[in-house]
Amino acid sequence: MNIQAFYAFLYFYLMCPADIIGLWWAVGSPLVLEPNKICRKNRKLSGKQRYICRREKEIVEEAVNGARLAIAECQYQFQTRRWNCTTARKSFARILRRDTRETAFVYAITAAGVVYTVTRACSRGSLLQCTCDNNVRDITSDGEWEWGGCHDDVDFGYMKSKEFMDDRRKKKKGDLRTKIRLHNNEAGRLAIREYMTRDCKCHGLSGTCALRTCWRRMPNFRDTGTRLKDKFDGASKVTISNDGRSLVTEDDTIKPPSKEDLLYTEQSPNFCKPRKRYGSLGTQGRQCVPDSMGLEGCTLMCCGRGYTQTQVTVQENCKCQFIWCCQVICKTCTSIKTITRCL
Ligand SMILES: *[C@@H]1O[C@H](CO)[C@@H](O)[C@H](O)[C@H]1NC(C)=O
Repeated sequence: MNIQAFYAFLYFYLMCPADIIGLWWAVGSPLVLEPNKICRKNRKLSGKQRYICRREKEIVEEAVNGARLAIAECQYQFQTRRWNCTTARKSFARILRRDTRETAFVYAITAAGVVYTVTRACSRGSLLQCTCDNNVRDITSDGEWEWGGCHDDVDFGYMKSKEFMDDRRKKKKGDLRTKIRLHNNEAGRLAIREYMTRDCKCHGLSGTCALRTCWRRMPNFRDTGTRLKDKFDGASKVTISNDGRSLVTEDDTIKPPSKEDLLYTEQSPNFCKPRKRYGSLGTQGRQCVPDSMGLEGCTLMCCGRGYTQTQVTVQENCKCQFIWCCQVICKTCTSIKTITRCL
């Protein structure tokens, strides 16, 4: 199912209480085609969200791109695992409604994706509301180089991601689940804002580098994905403190989680078998690697059920020749490949 259809599904069928659904509601509709109409009609949006939706269509479109980028990254990071961040509606919609590590990751990466695409759009000059960040010049450089070029205005992307994704109705404010979602959204945004890097360029006669100018840029989104995946691995299970005001780890021998850590309250299922309530589709039919002891190996992937192998014939271009000038001529070769799948 393509992402558009997936969002459309959420828009029409899910009565999801999650804050993120604020975003899904907005982007999940034919909004991209008719933003005005949807912004006016959509009662699920809070005042602030409706404002952004109406006045800042371009930003909402960038948020949609951010969500897409986030899901692609999630699928990359989890490709060899039992839960592979599939957007199949039966799974993804459930994952969003629970409160497991997987939920935490999806929220964080989505919030990060929105920071990333909105900020990038500012730097490219495709939004009216923002441009490159010009305040960076005030921060001193070490004399070896000078600030110059376009600095990514991450604070703008951060602010928009927060405005749009953290919005919630007041009555839910004290709710544990809401607290955790807001925390994980923030962890995602920080995974970009706190890891800005510097790119530089040399000027001067060839190779002399007499003058070097540098600009601040966001980390690659792949690095952000990897960082959040590490946070997923070390996520903290929490409950609410007795006074109901803060989140505490269940095991108080563990050091308290920081703002950049991911939090959850619910143990994940093992994702071996289909379990509807938990968004697990099971691993039957998943491809695996026969002799590997890793996560992608059949032993772990198939949860001890074993696997089957089938031979398929594949046709590929081969023995390609470059003919002057400019043609490439290939032959078609047929080979037999073995596909291994979990029972
Ligand atoms: C992800 O997992 C689902 C369900 O287990 C499976 O149907 C799908 O093909 C998997 N996707 C990839 C890219 O392996």
